[in-house]
Amino acid sequence: MQVFKYERGKEDTVLNKAWWKEAVVYQIYPRSFMDSNGDGIGDLNGITEKLEYLKELGIDVIWLSPVYQSPNDDNGYDISDYQAIMEEFGTMEDYDRMLARAHELGIKIMMDLVVNHTSDEHAWFVESRKSVDNPYRDFYIWRKGKDGKEPNNWGSCFSGSAWKYDPQTDMYFLHLFSKKQPDLNWENPKLRQEVYDMMTWWGERGIDGFRMDVITMISKDQRFPDGVVRGNEKFGDSSPYVNNGPRVHEYLKEMNEKVISRFDWMTVGEGAGAGVEDAKRYAGTNENELDMIFTFEHVNLGQTQYGKWSDGSFDLVELKKVFQKWEDGLEGVAWNSLYWDNHDQPRAVSRFGNDSEEYREISAKMLATCLHFMKGTPYIYQGEEIGMTNAGYTSIDEYMDIESLNYYNILKLQGKSEEEVIRILGAKSRDNSRTPMQWDASENAGFTKGTPWLKVCDRYKEINTESRHEPDSVFQYYKELVKLRKELPVIQKGAVTPLLREDKEILAFKREYQGKELYVFCNFFDGEVKVPYSIPEDCKSILSNYGEEISPKELVLRPYEAVMFLR
Ligand code: NOJ
Repeated sequence: MQVFKYERGKEDTVLNKAWWKEAVVYQIYPRSFMDSNGDGIGDLNGITEKLEYLKELGIDVIWLSPVYQSPNDDNGYDISDYQAIMEEFGTMEDYDRMLARAHELGIKIMMDLVVNHTSDEHAWFVESRKSVDNPYRDFYIWRKGKDGKEPNNWGSCFSGSAWKYDPQTDMYFLHLFSKKQPDLNWENPKLRQEVYDMMTWWGERGIDGFRMDVITMISKDQRFPDGVVRGNEKFGDSSPYVNNGPRVHEYLKEMNEKVISRFDWMTVGEGAGAGVEDAKRYAGTNENELDMIFTFEHVNLGQTQYGKWSDGSFDLVELKKVFQKWEDGLEGVAWNSLYWDNHDQPRAVSRFGNDSEEYREISAKMLATCLHFMKGTPYIYQGEEIGMTNAGYTSIDEYMDIESLNYYNILKLQGKSEEEVIRILGAKSRDNSRTPMQWDASENAGFTKGTPWLKVCDRYKEINTESRHEPDSVFQYYKELVKLRKELPVIQKGAVTPLLREDKEILAFKREYQGKELYVFCNFFDGEVKVPYSIPEDCKSILSNYGEEISPKELVLRPYEAVMFLR
């Protein structure tokens, strides 16, 4: 079958559309989206049931977090069979039905590709650990210990050493994440070919692309040097030797040539440790690697003494600098992806907005305005479109996430009180975004008829999708944003000029395309603020989160107000 494929560098002719540049993506974390069979765990049939809801929102693509067979040490990011569906989620027939129905509704599906590591229960690893001459031995990274200790001092992203000793062959294997997630050895061409074959298999099944988990980490510095140990940490930092490693671009070019270029796909790489210059290579128009990557720079702001577990406060000027750096750096040479929330981040409205009863909706809309009018492909994470908040857990017993549970112990060992640790997890834990989707005000927020695998956020009676029919709901606002992106080419294509760069309260920018100008002003705080900029008087306000027609003259923004003008 001849598949039409967008050609880089010749875009935007009638026949050569980069559809992913015009798309809005919605991320589904299947475990928490919708449970159709009452076992307390979201599943594929649950997703199929809710596709009409997504159609109503107007999104174009679903990014589906992993649904493959997995022992669930890291909720599906530890895969034991790439070509089978996790039993809790359903069957391959359920998958095909979901894909077919999504396509009928005009929604594409992008799968999650997790190939930096597998589960230790994957058949390759089961074989690999058997003996040093097993044909699968080199699918993973095995090293001898040094002086009776680990091969080097690297720490795992989920705490502890990144090496695990295996008595069977008296060697250690590398695991940058949990002990049950051994890293694959991309130096091995046989492994790479297996990955490409598996991707092709999914491509032939009809999927529309891949989001690639920590893809920037697949090439390791083969010298495996010790990393710097900071402050009171026990382990060395592996990131200079694993992020954007020596052969990563070679591998991605090969993947592109062998698989990606055969399909009309959208590809987005999780860009752990990637800066703008790296992004230009991963997603550069003429690079033939990926379509875009996710930066971490904006969500990593405020990481001070305790890294991720610092309190997460942010400085608006710094946040604007990050956005500006990415918008400026990629303009004309690579495409950007835009997100606030995902399954690894706390809820944006709780972190960058204000989740109080008074300001939750208005600030959720403000954050959406800011993001959806930047240049790039916007991503909505499930529940963001109704302004879902952090989990609000008060006890460690309510948490399920492996990273949070590990760090609970570490933060306690560092001398923090129970109260303080619960406060930090409350702000930063990944479970904040993994609480079950809040569909309605019935028990368990309508997510399940059974016992939910993770506690539902207590605020589900106030915050759920039933209120979406109200004209001023967060949902209707998102719907309008998605619609405007389709109607106004300036939103997709316009060049971005940041305004009021040093202003401490307002994020503002201008977009321009073929004589049209678009101005966006967002107040990130709960006070009133005068806009120190003369907006052309013939501008017309086209969207306001206060639901009113706004005059550009002597504009004063109310708490968390967002205004957009067109000229
Ligand atoms: C990034 C994923 O988004 C995260 O959820 C996962 O734990 C790690 N990669 C390891 O796969």
